Amino acid sequence: MLTPQYSIRSHVHEQLTADLIGQEVTLAGWVAKRRDHGGLIFVDLRDRTAIVQCTFDPDQSGDAFALAEMIRPEWVVKVRGVVRERPEGTANPNMITGKVDVVVHKLEVLNRSNTPPFEIEDETETDEKIRMQWRYLDIRRPEMTRTLELRSQVTQAFRIALEKLGFIEVETPILCKSTPEGARDFIVPSRMNPAKFYALPQSPQLFKQLLMIGGIERYFQIARCFRDEDLRADRQPEFTQVDIEMSFVEQDDILAMTEEVMQQVMAAAGHKLEIPLQRMTYDDAMDHYGIDRPDIRFGLKLIDISDLVAGSGFGVFANAVKNGGVVKAINAKGGAKLSRGRLDALNQLAIDSGAKGMAWITFSDEGEAKSPILKFLDDDTIEALRARLDVEPGDLLVFGADKRDRANEVLGIIRLALADELGIEREGYSALWVVDFPLFRRDEEDTRWVANHHPFTRPFDEHLDMIVSDPGSVGSYSHDLVMNGFEIGGGTLRIHDADVQREVLSVLGHDEAAAQEQFGFLLEALDFGAPPHGGIALGLDRLVMLLAGHDSIREVIAFPKTSSGSDPMLGAPTRVSIAQLNDAHLRID
Ligand code: AMO
Ligand code: AMP
Repeated sequence: MLTPQYSIRSHVHEQLTADLIGQEVTLAGWVAKRRDHGGLIFVDLRDRTAIVQCTFDPDQSGDAFALAEMIRPEWVVKVRGVVRERPEGTANPNMITGKVDVVVHKLEVLNRSNTPPFEIEDETETDEKIRMQWRYLDIRRPEMTRTLELRSQVTQAFRIALEKLGFIEVETPILCKSTPEGARDFIVPSRMNPAKFYALPQSPQLFKQLLMIGGIERYFQIARCFRDEDLRADRQPEFTQVDIEMSFVEQDDILAMTEEVMQQVMAAAGHKLEIPLQRMTYDDAMDHYGIDRPDIRFGLKLIDISDLVAGSGFGVFANAVKNGGVVKAINAKGGAKLSRGRLDALNQLAIDSGAKGMAWITFSDEGEAKSPILKFLDDDTIEALRARLDVEPGDLLVFGADKRDRANEVLGIIRLALADELGIEREGYSALWVVDFPLFRRDEEDTRWVANHHPFTRPFDEHLDMIVSDPGSVGSYSHDLVMNGFEIGGGTLRIHDADVQREVLSVLGHDEAAAQEQFGFLLEALDFGAPPHGGIALGLDRLVMLLAGHDSIREVIAFPKTSSGSDPMLGAPTRVSIAQLNDAHLRID
C-alpha cells in the first residue's frame, strides 16, 4: 500500500472507505474531471491509488468554491474536507471510494497544467505514438499505473522466490564483448581505445557461466538485454530477463526449480499454476501444432494424412508425397459455417505464409462433403479422411501439402487464424515445456549451421560423436517455457568441456583461431574445473504482458521504443556533436 507522506496529506485515496465517514482529511492529487452541477462542483481527484470525488458546495466550501470554478484537468491540488456518505442513489459501486465523497472547505493549487494532448483515462483511442511522446501523462492513466504496479509485484516475487532457494543476485557488465544470441549487437565506441568497440550484452549468458566456474552455484539477475533486431509486439531492442543459472544440476532440476518459482510468481499475481507442467518435445510441438511455442488452450491439431492421399488423383497432394513432403490437415470443428470469402482469406494467408495454397473441404449439416477438390478424391479417400480426422457434420478440413517444415509452419499459422475465425475461447493461463530442440539448424538461406539456442548448449551425451559428422541429427538438453503461445523463457544445460565446445564452435564456422579470438576466455575457463551447469532466462516483459492481459510488451514497459526503435519523447536516437564523434574516434560519411 502507498502510505501518505503525512506532511502534505493525511490519507491516500484508496483509504477513503466508509470507515472514514465523519473524519476530516487532507488529500492531494491531479484533477481528473470537474463537473458543475446545479450549484455544486464535483471534482474527481486522482492519486496513484484511486479517484475520489470532492464536492464543493457554495454554502459549506467558502473561498474554495470560487477557486474550484477555475481549476482545470491535470492541475495538482490539495484539498481539506470532511468525508461523508454519498447521498442516497449516488454511490458508485465501481470505485473503491464510491461510497463516500469529501466535502471540501479548503483548496490549494499546488501546480497548474497545460491542457493535456489526450484525456487521462483508461479507455484510450489515442495513437500509441502520441501516448509515447507524452509518456508521463500516459503513465498517469490508472491502467498504466496498475500495470507498472503488477510488474513490480512480479519482479519482487521472483526475487523472494529465488532468494529462498539460495540464489544470489549478481550484476554483470553492460559494456562487454558480443555474446552471440542470434541478433545483431548494439556497439559502443571506446574513447580510450581508438577504433575499438564494446558490445551491449544480448544476455548475460557467458557471465553467468563464468559465475558457475567461479563457484557461485546459484545465480540470478533481473538483467537488461539488448538486441538489434526487427521489432514486433513481443520484441523490444532492450528488454528484461530474469536470468538464472545453477551448478551441479540436470535438466529436471532446472525445470522443477523454474516451476516452483513460477508458481509463486503467478500466485503473487493472483493466479494458480498447476505443476508439474506438461513437457512436449520440439518434434511433437512442430508435428502437432506446427510451431515451437504452441498455444495448447485449444485443439485444432495438425494431422498427417500423407498415406491416405499419396495415391490420390489430386496432383498437388500426390506430388507432395512423391517429392518427399507431407500432406497434413486440420479439422476446424464447426468451421463449415465460414463463408467462401473467409476461406479465400485463409487461402491467401497460407500463400502469404509461403504455401502454394490451402485446399479445404466442408461438411454440411447433413454430412455431405463440398469442395473444389472433391472431384479429384474418390469416396474411399473421403471416408478415410472422415475417420482419421474425426469428422462430424458442420466441420471444415483444411490441407497443406509441402515439404514437412513448410507444411507445419503454414498450418501452424492457419491454426491460429482458424481459432480467431471460429471465435474459440482462449481464457486463462496454460503453460508447458517444449524440450529437446535440435542443437543446430540451417540459417535462413540454408548456407550454414547456426545454433538453435546459442553455441554453449550441451548436446545429448549419446550424440557427442555426431557433432561434426551429422550436425543436423544432434539433439540438445534445451527447454523453452511457453505460455498461451508465447515463448516466455528459454534455457539449456551448458557445455562444460572445452573440447566439446571447440567442436560445436567449429560446426558453427569458427575455426580454431577464430574460436580462440572470440571465445578464448571461455575455452580457457572451461579448462579450470568448470562444473556441470545450466539455467534459463525468463522474459519478464512477456510474462507481465500476459498477466496484465495486454497484447504488446510496450504496454508493460515504462518507456518503450516504437517499432522503428525510436523514443518519441526523448527524440532518441539523435545525432551527436562533432566533438563527441571526435572523442569516439568516429567520422560519419
Ligand atoms: P533467449 O534468447 O531465449 O535465451 O531469451 C530468453 C527469453 O527472453 C525473452 N526475449 C525477449 N523479450 C522481449 N524482447 C526481445 N527482443 C526478446 N528476446 C528474448 C523471451 C525469451 O524466452 N541466454 C539465454 C538463456 C539461457 O540459455 O539461459 C537467452 O537469452 O521470453
Ligand atoms: P489448384 O488445382 O492449383 O487450383 O488448387 C486447388 C486447391 O488446392 C486450391 O484450393 C488451392 O489453394 C489448393 N492448393 C494448391 N496447392 C496446395 C498445397 N501445396 N497445399 C494445400 N493446398 C493447395
